[in-house]
Amino acid sequence: MPVTPALEADAADVLRRQDPELAEILLGELNRQSTTLQLIAAENFTSPAVLAALGSPLANKYAEGYPGARYHGGCEIVDLAERAAVQRAKALFGAEHANVQSHSGSSAVLAAYAALLRPGDTVLALGLPYGGHLTHGSPANFSGRWFDFVGYGVDAETGLIDHDQVRALARAHRPKAIVCGSIAQPRHIDYAFFREVADEVGAYLIADAAHPIGLVAGGAAPNPVPYADVVCATTHKVLRGPRGGMLLCGGELAERVDRAVFPFTQGGAQMHTIAAKAVAFGEAATPAFAAYAHQVVANARRLAAGLAEEGLVVTTGGTDTHLITADPGPLGVDGRAARGRLAAAGMILDCCALPHDEVRGLRLGTAAVTTQGMGEREMDRVAALLGGVLRAETDPQRARAEVRELTGGFPPYPQ
Ligand SMILES: Cc1ncc(COP(=O)(O)O)c(C=O)c1O
Repeated sequence: MPVTPALEADAADVLRRQDPELAEILLGELNRQSTTLQLIAAENFTSPAVLAALGSPLANKYAEGYPGARYHGGCEIVDLAERAAVQRAKALFGAEHANVQSHSGSSAVLAAYAALLRPGDTVLALGLPYGGHLTHGSPANFSGRWFDFVGYGVDAETGLIDHDQVRALARAHRPKAIVCGSIAQPRHIDYAFFREVADEVGAYLIADAAHPIGLVAGGAAPNPVPYADVVCATTHKVLRGPRGGMLLCGGELAERVDRAVFPFTQGGAQMHTIAAKAVAFGEAATPAFAAYAHQVVANARRLAAGLAEEGLVVTTGGTDTHLITADPGPLGVDGRAARGRLAAAGMILDCCALPHDEVRGLRLGTAAVTTQGMGEREMDRVAALLGGVLRAETDPQRARAEVRELTGGFPPYPQ
């Protein structure tokens, strides 16, 4: 059964009456999401309760500052929402302090750097070709422009983070901070290892847990909070909340982190999003969410095994998480062409870098399809469909019809 009950019809009706053009676009997107397979590892379906908070009158409120200390009047009600979000986040992740105001995952990383670093400081992070995020030192991003990033990599054969290289680079460069976290690493990160290296060289440890934080909430992945000085995360991936970011840290860094978010890098907090984060944290604290998080991993493992059977080379030989990366090369197609061919069949996923090659691979995840209620049986079907499309054995129109039929049985927002 899908875990997301029916969407309220009222909101769509109001928009349809007033602005049919935009209503068409919104409904078109709902239709796209409902009739294609959402295999983008960073996406999910939020609950109607989260959407209700996002579309609430809290969107109207300006609230610069923090609860009890705002620059605007009339914040007494929205303060309750932020206090609830902070309390729930602290309880969910066992953190002494939570800041829930970051507008996005990137803003959370920016705030972590602002709290701990000065421009020009050296930072050790996973290199972008190996799955580092833009905020981990891309020259196109503030991080690469303002800090001196040194990149560690993954082992070309195993695809696992090269711990020996991390230690050697840390000793050679004595970074002010070490970042662990990735957009493409399918295995758990060894936070204890990173803590040990950071302690050895006197560096801060920043865990960018944007991807696994939802699994952490559900007890299906290790928690970085006991190890990292600051944990940055998004709230919209496996965690199934609204698009946004958050930071977790110990009490001694609380004030620096808060000031790094507001007033250093952001202005007014988005109170509707903060309320929606509180709703999502409440959902994530339930046994049903823990079961969901474990099913996400079970589905990803089954899908990874299915893809390997279809002839794709699955990085690290499988996954511990919601995320899989794979090389479709043995099927005669590179990642970019594969993504296009799969999109035509209604299977929506990303390209990614591969550890062993210059060519692009595929990145996919099981957070959204699991929210829809799909299980291991459906993952077998998805793997077979994907293999058939990539080998050009299945006619694209036939594949598109099969995807429609499959998703029809698992509507994300049943009417
Ligand atoms: C590891 C990591 N850090 C940061 C981000 C940035 O999040 P956002 O897109 O919300 O800025 C992402 C997003 O995918 C991510 O995977």
